[in-house]
Amino acid sequence: MAPITTYLFSFAFVLPTLVNAHGHVTGIVADGKWYTGWNGEMKYQNPLPATAGWQADNLDNGFVTPDSFAKPDIICHKSAKNGNAYIPAKPGSKITFQWNTWPVSHKGPVFDYIASCNGDCTTVDKTKLTWVKMDEGAWLSGNDPGTWVTDNLIKSNISWSITLPNLAPGNYVIRHEIIALHAASQTNGAQAYPQCVNFQVSGGGTLAVSGGVPATSFYKASDPGIQFNLYSKFTGYTMPGPALTKLLRREEGEEREHARNWFRRMK
Ligand SMILES: *[C@@H]1O[C@H](CO)[C@@H](O)[C@H](O)[C@H]1NC(C)=O
Repeated sequence: MAPITTYLFSFAFVLPTLVNAHGHVTGIVADGKWYTGWNGEMKYQNPLPATAGWQADNLDNGFVTPDSFAKPDIICHKSAKNGNAYIPAKPGSKITFQWNTWPVSHKGPVFDYIASCNGDCTTVDKTKLTWVKMDEGAWLSGNDPGTWVTDNLIKSNISWSITLPNLAPGNYVIRHEIIALHAASQTNGAQAYPQCVNFQVSGGGTLAVSGGVPATSFYKASDPGIQFNLYSKFTGYTMPGPALTKLLRREEGEEREHARNWFRRMK
């Protein structure tokens, strides 16, 4: 039996993590129409409701920790299963990811990745999906902790919007994600909150999504943008994950330009 001090230590470690857990994507607005996303409490419904949002074990508004960044949980959140519906969209569609809540303290980067299902997204093997990063934002100004795109997300009704690139018709999964850095100065302290959503894209777009990488290779616990002290006098931030591709133009162009220029400077 482990000595009592061990128990006390693990308790102290686990408890703040639970208290800090925060937020999930409750729905997606596509071209002005609301689609219910995945909500953790749905897992007790039988049959499961049809949602384009992938199912995950995130009833606690929880997150994926860096020690799982090479494991399947990072792909579409904990124990994720395919969303069993699609959101119809087309090139130029405005897509808004609506979060239920997000604390100001949970500052960090926001990402949107896309993968082609090469077939049916409701049955595709998630470990076979290869992703292209099409949108990113992170640090904006200041430090300790500074201003981050998550502050803008909160101001935008706790939502994040993208415009779909000129995608070729087909079935795609978009993986929207916030990584909270408030505890990231400690090992394994960053918190990834991914949500996958199925889209059925129609229209006459021409862009193919190719050259992507599996989500299990996006981040490492030791990446400078993953183990990062928000409460220090930093002068920059290294964007974690694969390089941004030019697929997508966000509406808040300046914000992204800023992040991208910064990304270039850091290289
Ligand atoms: C803000 O978000 C809520 C859902 O949390 C939604 O019902 C409402 O329509 C949104 N407001 C606007 C202006 O988009």
